[in-house]
Amino acid sequence: MTASKSELYRNIAEQLGALLAGELDRIANAANMAALIYYGLPDVNWTGFYFRQGGELVLGPFQGKPACVRIPLGKGVCGAAAARAATILVPDVREFPGHIACDPVSCSELVVPLIEAGAVSGVLDLDSPLPARFDEVDQAGCERLVALFVEHHHRYPR
Ligand code: SME
Repeated sequence: MTASKSELYRNIAEQLGALLAGELDRIANAANMAALIYYGLPDVNWTGFYFRQGGELVLGPFQGKPACVRIPLGKGVCGAAAARAATILVPDVREFPGHIACDPVSCSELVVPLIEAGAVSGVLDLDSPLPARFDEVDQAGCERLVALFVEHHHRYPR
């Protein structure tokens, strides 16, 4: 199971590389990446980005139901991951103090920060209706996808 999940992420990473190739528009690339993850992974009900603007995160491209637009740094799972500059895996969102419920169906969550030139520029957020849907393989896989996204735009700045 774990091996096949790693393989799934390798496959998604390969597709992401192909989607990013030759395109420098961050919004377009973030939109395609959100869709790639949403349709590539089983049991997810929201995938997308929040980008940092000063002291808050602002909703970016996503797949799933409409979501809250602004999240102060330090608030919710997204704001906490951004403030800590570290990935957060939440097996049960009801047990995460300050969790922001955009969709009551969401049960577990994975948030990976985007770190560019030493600063957090946003987060990638994944939600699932299943409890404990995300594990360390998902964490490593999504961190790899985020690294591809960040490195691509760093290597070829606009
Ligand atoms: N649950 C997140 C808010 C964003 S939505 O899940 C899309 C949080 O607590 O930060």
